[in-house]
Amino acid sequence: MKAIGDVKVLREQLADWRHSGEHIALVPTMGNLHDGHMSLVKIAREHAERVVVSVFVNPTHFANSGDFDGYPRTLERDKRRLKQAKSDLIFAPDTDTIYPFGVDNATSVTVPALTNDLCGALRPGHFDGVTTVVSRLFSIVQPDVAVFGQKDYQQQLVIRRMAIDLSLPIQIICGETKREEDGLAMSSQNRLLTDDERATAPKLYAFIDEVGRGLAAGQRNYLELESAVLDKLLAHGFKPEYVSIRRAENLDVPDRDSDELVVLVSAYLGNARLIDNLIVHI
Ligand code: PAF
Repeated sequence: MKAIGDVKVLREQLADWRHSGEHIALVPTMGNLHDGHMSLVKIAREHAERVVVSVFVNPTHFANSGDFDGYPRTLERDKRRLKQAKSDLIFAPDTDTIYPFGVDNATSVTVPALTNDLCGALRPGHFDGVTTVVSRLFSIVQPDVAVFGQKDYQQQLVIRRMAIDLSLPIQIICGETKREEDGLAMSSQNRLLTDDERATAPKLYAFIDEVGRGLAAGQRNYLELESAVLDKLLAHGFKPEYVSIRRAENLDVPDRDSDELVVLVSAYLGNARLIDNLIVHI
């Protein structure tokens, strides 16, 4: 599996493919790939003849440099997995390639709507880091299609909004969250769980799944449903950041008649920050 770090070399390869009439899908990642990423590669393959997976640990993604330094770099293993998943190319740029004038002086992209709430409120600047790096990856690769995971629900909405605002001719696809057999959403954060915490972690999804069933059965007291989940999380040793029922389309607070909802949750369990969500069509 070829990993290219240089933009010129990458563009030559992409130009060859385009010249042959092939479409290009991009799956942006920070590496340390798990089956959740592989499911996004599979979706990408269904939408384009060529699949590029970017592996870039973005410094502006992290609230502190310790988390950035501690993020696992596993490029050789990622290459093997991507070869099996039949990805065509890995784009693995270094920090200078993405931020030629330094991270602090970088031209940045901000999506004001959608980013000051939920994860954005708890991690100021985080989504600016995401949209800035994703816009660069989009400019470099110029994919026809880009695939993001539903687990980061707010992120994919923000990126979708960015693509509309900047008139980017890129189809944004959201791939379903891949789960372990017990329901835990696959995430690179799961590596931080102790054995006991790992046994508890699936409850995060189980609790929002109960909310989903309550909504489907006609419950509409959103505050009551949210606070019941908060109580259960606390009782099981989680440190919840939020539990929130929103409109799936734009994360607005729903009214009683809203019919496309998303239940979003974020909670620490030990050192792992776990997020998950459930879309509910009523
Ligand atoms: O979801 C992620 O892994 C990252 O936010 C992304 C989209 C690769 C941008 O750094």
